[in-house]
Amino acid sequence: MIEQSNDTFKNISEDCLDFKAFCDYLQKASGITLSPGKSYLVAARIRHIMAVNGLSDLSGLITELNRNNKKLHQEVIDAMTTNETFWFRDDYPFVYFSQHLLPSWSMPEHKDPAIKIWSAACSSGQEPYSLAMLCEEYKASNSFNKRVEILATDLSSDILQKAKKGEFDRLSIARGLSDKRLKSFFSEELSGQWQVNNLLKRYIQFKALNLLESYQSLGTFDIIFCRNVLIYFTRETKTDILERMHKCLKPGGLLCLGSSESLAGAKDLFTMVHCKPGIIYQAK
Ligand SMILES: C[S@@+](CC[C@H](N)C(=O)[O-])C[C@H]1O[C@@H](n2cnc3c(N)ncnc32)[C@H](O)[C@@H]1O
Repeated sequence: MIEQSNDTFKNISEDCLDFKAFCDYLQKASGITLSPGKSYLVAARIRHIMAVNGLSDLSGLITELNRNNKKLHQEVIDAMTTNETFWFRDDYPFVYFSQHLLPSWSMPEHKDPAIKIWSAACSSGQEPYSLAMLCEEYKASNSFNKRVEILATDLSSDILQKAKKGEFDRLSIARGLSDKRLKSFFSEELSGQWQVNNLLKRYIQFKALNLLESYQSLGTFDIIFCRNVLIYFTRETKTDILERMHKCLKPGGLLCLGSSESLAGAKDLFTMVHCKPGIIYQAK
């Protein structure tokens, strides 16, 4: 079923029971559903894990995972998550944030002393750091005396560690960050990496969180960014996540999804706020 060469995978047949067992394991653990035609992706992503752990076939990997091998479990999760992200992704949520939300939160009628933001599935941190930059920029030219707390969560411990470190290479810096913001909020290290400054770091608490698990300990938020992660889940899982996120929003709180994502079965819980070219959802 699995072609091997020098103990490494080349290919996996999608019909084999071990591949199906791997897909089931992944879906149960993370919600990620592999669509047909993705066996090449599994082969490419777990090849290294197999080699390092001395496993020669998928069946051995599954046996080990079912033995509750936590280290191997996390390695598989880290390998199978897609961490694509960049600064100020899609623009419109960030324009809406700085032009509408920050000003409305500074009005005297907005009594809450703290603004709480959740960046769910934050990957390497570009989304929460982008929001922190906007808060700093807004504070520099407006009177704004609220405390802003950003909770940034992800399932992958590898990527979360990277986000927390706040160190970015030239390639990721080049994706959506202006020179002005680079100079204002980063410092260049001898290694050629760019380090986010502490001003931004102070806004953010990074925490490991699986979106399939409970959100009860997180409190309530003014806005949740849950972008470009629901695409990996079934409609049922999306609906369940969005219903539970709705419970985590303050009255009238907002939800921002990825530009190609929808509310699935949770449509009745939100109204649409048009902020061209996109939509943000407000809790009913
Ligand atoms: C494509 S990135 C999106 C990053 C960012 N939100 C954006 O839009 O640029 C998807 C992220 O979702 C995370 N992820 C996947 N399944 C998850 C789950 N069950 N719980 C929490 N995070 C998950 C992955 O680790 C990855 O970092």
